[in-house]
Amino acid sequence: MNQNLERLHQYPFERLNALLADVTPNSTLDLIPLSLGEPKHRPPDFVLDFLADKQTLATHLATYPATRGVPELRAAIADWLSKRFAARVDPETQVLPVNGTREALFSFAQAVLSNSPNVNHTDPGNASGRTSLPFVLTPNPFYQIYEGAAILGGAKPRYINNEPTQGYQQDFSQMQSDDWAATQLVYICSPGNPTGQVMPEAQMIKLIELSLEYNFIIASDECYSEIYFDDRQPPNSLLAVSQAMGNIDYKNCVIFHSLSKRSNLPGLRSGFVAGDAQVLENYLLYRTYHGCAMSAHHQYASALAWQDEIHVEQNRDLYRQKFAIVEDILRKHFAVHTPQGGFYHWLPVGEDDALFARDLMQDQHVKVVPGQFLGRDSGAGNPGTGHIRVAWVSELARCQEAAERLLEFAKTR
Ligand SMILES: Cc1ncc(COP(=O)(O)O)c(C=O)c1O
Repeated sequence: MNQNLERLHQYPFERLNALLADVTPNSTLDLIPLSLGEPKHRPPDFVLDFLADKQTLATHLATYPATRGVPELRAAIADWLSKRFAARVDPETQVLPVNGTREALFSFAQAVLSNSPNVNHTDPGNASGRTSLPFVLTPNPFYQIYEGAAILGGAKPRYINNEPTQGYQQDFSQMQSDDWAATQLVYICSPGNPTGQVMPEAQMIKLIELSLEYNFIIASDECYSEIYFDDRQPPNSLLAVSQAMGNIDYKNCVIFHSLSKRSNLPGLRSGFVAGDAQVLENYLLYRTYHGCAMSAHHQYASALAWQDEIHVEQNRDLYRQKFAIVEDILRKHFAVHTPQGGFYHWLPVGEDDALFARDLMQDQHVKVVPGQFLGRDSGAGNPGTGHIRVAWVSELARCQEAAERLLEFAKTR
C-alpha cells in the first residue's frame, strides 16, 4: 500500500461524528444541520430541463467524452472569465473542465509535484528541522483537500495561519528564502473557507512575484467567488491580478472554479481550471491517463450555466437576505463579521469550540463544525480554536430558526 495513506489526517466530518456519537440531542427540536457546505438553493431550471432531455442524453451517453472538454464549454468558460474578471484566456490552451474543484485540487498536486508519491515522510531533515521534501503551502484553517493532496503527492504541508489578529488574512512572514526555494505549490483560497476573507490584491501580487522568483505554482481556489455581499467589491481572481501586473501568460498561476456554489449544482460535479498553458498541458496529460473526463452531457449543461448570470444574481440575493436576517439575530451576542464571500460564518465563541459544538447539539439540536477540526497546530497554535463554522445553506426559515437557537444557547454559556 501507499504508505502516505497512513499519514492522512482524519476528515473533519468523521471527527465531528465521533464528537457527537454519545450526545442525546434535545428531542423536542428537529435537527438543523449547519455543518456541511452543501448548497440547498434550487438549481437553475434551464439546466434541469437540459439534463432531462432524453434525446440529447442518448446522444451524449453514446460517446466517450474528451478530457480536454468540448469547445462549447471551453469557450463559455473563457467568455465568462473575460466578462467577470476581464481576464483573457485562450480556450484552446488555458482552460480545462474538471469534475468539481475538489477532484481538481487533489489531482493537480499529483500532477505538478515533482516527488515520488511514496517518499518517506518520516525523513528527519537536518538540524534546523528542514526536510528534503518539497513544501506545499496551505492556508490554516483550510479546505482539507489541500493537505491530503500534499501528503499523497509526497510533499510536506506547510501551514500558513489565517490569524484572527490580522483580520483572518494569511501571515506568510514565517517563510524565509530557503523555505520559498523548497516550495513547489501554494494553495490559496479566496474567498476563504472557512474564514470568508478575500486575499488582498497586494498579497496576491507579492505571491506571484515570489512564484516567478522561486518558480512554484499557485493554485487559487476561487469556488466561492460568486457569493458575495457588497456589489462594489466582488472578489477578484488571481488571473486578473496576474494580468494587471504584466504576467499576461499567467505563468505559474492556475485558478479553480466550480458550478457547485455559484449555480447550486454540487451534484453535477462540474468546474474548471484556467491559467498557465504549460502547466495545463501537463495537467491534461495527467488527466488523460487518470481517466477523469466529464460526461459530455454534463459538459453541455455546464456551458449553459456559465453563460447565464441571472440565476447567479438571484442566488446571491437569497444569501444576502438570509445573512441580513441571521446576522441581526446573532449580533445580539456574537462578534459577527460579515464574510467578504462564501456562505459561512466563522464565529468566535469565546470558549472551547468542540465543547460548544457538542453542547449546542445536545441543547438545541443544531450541528456546526468546531473550528479546531478545520485547522492544524503547526507550532504557532491552531488558529481554528475558539471558533465554529456555520454554513448558512438551508432555506431562510430554517436558518432563521437555527440562528435563534444559537443565540438562545449562547446566552446560557
Ligand atoms: C474551499 C473549497 N474548495 C473546493 C470545494 C469543492 O467544491 P466542488 O468540488 O463541489 O467544486 C469546496 C466544497 O465545499 C470548498 O469549500
